Amino acid sequence: MNQINKYIEDNKDRFLDELFGLIRIPSVSSKSEHRADMQSAAEYLKSSLLDAGADKAQVIPTDGHPVLYAEKIIDPSLPVVLVYGHYDVQPAEPFELWKSPPFEPEIRQGRIWARGADDDKGQLFMHVKAFEYMVSFDILPCNVKFMIEGEEEIGSPSLGKFCRANADKLKCDIILVSDTSMIGKDVPSITTGLRGLSYLETEVIGPERDLHSGLYGGAVINPVNVLTKMIASLTDEKNRITIPGFYDDVLEASPKEREEMAKAPFDVERYKKQIGVEDLGGEAGYSAIERTGIRPSIDVNGIWGGHTGEGAKTILPSTAHAKISMRLVPNQSSKKIDELFIRHFKSLAPPGVKVRTKVLHGGEGYVFPVDHPAYLAASLAYEETFGKKPVPFRSGGSIPIISLFEQVLGVKSILMGFGLESDAIHSPNENFPLWNFYKGIETIPLFYKYFIEKAE
Ligand code: BES
Ligand code: MN
Ligand code: MN
Repeated sequence: MNQINKYIEDNKDRFLDELFGLIRIPSVSSKSEHRADMQSAAEYLKSSLLDAGADKAQVIPTDGHPVLYAEKIIDPSLPVVLVYGHYDVQPAEPFELWKSPPFEPEIRQGRIWARGADDDKGQLFMHVKAFEYMVSFDILPCNVKFMIEGEEEIGSPSLGKFCRANADKLKCDIILVSDTSMIGKDVPSITTGLRGLSYLETEVIGPERDLHSGLYGGAVINPVNVLTKMIASLTDEKNRITIPGFYDDVLEASPKEREEMAKAPFDVERYKKQIGVEDLGGEAGYSAIERTGIRPSIDVNGIWGGHTGEGAKTILPSTAHAKISMRLVPNQSSKKIDELFIRHFKSLAPPGVKVRTKVLHGGEGYVFPVDHPAYLAASLAYEETFGKKPVPFRSGGSIPIISLFEQVLGVKSILMGFGLESDAIHSPNENFPLWNFYKGIETIPLFYKYFIEKAE
């Protein structure tokens, strides 16, 4: 057994205990009742990193939740790898669908079950342990910085400012991130693209109060009826988005690129089975992997209005609401899309109702070139631990701060995610296979090794 595998074997229970301590802190960034938990999670990571061998670690306040910063500078003339991750998690509701409580991590079927088990506590903790390993065997080949934020799941509202204010401190040669997934356990892959995001909330406002639907129904415009029609008209029969100008900046993938993508061993049958649907849908003319990887999309995330409680109440509601998001592809601007949406959506409403739309958050997409030295280093690392070359693929998910890093710090981020489709991130029963957790710890030090070799 080689040195890293032995280290993992000897310490695997302690690694889990320590990760579980972090998971037990319910650091849900979107809820003000968890303010203190955000601080605790950042403090927890501070001591984890100091224990692992960081020279210094600080919990730095921001306008929102604190950022954990840590570093180990072994030689200022060597390159710097900056590890980014997030300690905040999505809300765990609906609680009743969890087989074990979301903040009481449990191991069943070789997986860790908990909110944050994958996204992103489990994944960021692989970096803490890989760092500990490199420090304890004195094989850290370069300088390391950690920036772990607490606002990723709410769109990183404070991190742009934090990066601008601390650009010097954050100076680095590459940003290393594990917050994405692989195509499959047997299909190691490196994420080479992320989608951008425009997330809006809209309200259609009708009569000043809920009305008796017998006395008024048919004569007064019903905001819920109107909103659903407006939403329905946002896509056409080919499932293309109908907002004028929406596709203007979309870069069409070349036939060659599409040919390459089609080679990715993506299993549609397994994909359908995992989410319990018999068929898929989406923009005509594109495969499922293309629809999430290189095409934009629009989704209603939630819709409400009128009577939703028990029994029947005969009303014509005063207002209707929806939260709508659009996933964007690189080169589309989320700000421009926000504006196009707001203008178009307003134009869809008949006179007699008002429409108010506000932007909740958003950000730009991202691409990573496969000929970049960090890609080549990551590729060698996976090849060594998985026994096969990883495939590049474009994820449908978003981490808007990644493109901001490029803008503000001028540094690329290599996305070495070890999650799986089946990890149910953001859903009840989120989980992370132990195999992936340990495989990540095994693979990460090799990235450092090959990246530094290439940088020299
Ligand atoms: N880690 C995810 C993003 C992700 C997961 C990308 C898997 C690729 C594969 C991240 O925490 C996330 O959930 N991002 C949000 C956006 C954010 C602004 C709320 C998303 O994609 O919905
Ligand atoms: Mn994440
Ligand atoms: Mn997430």
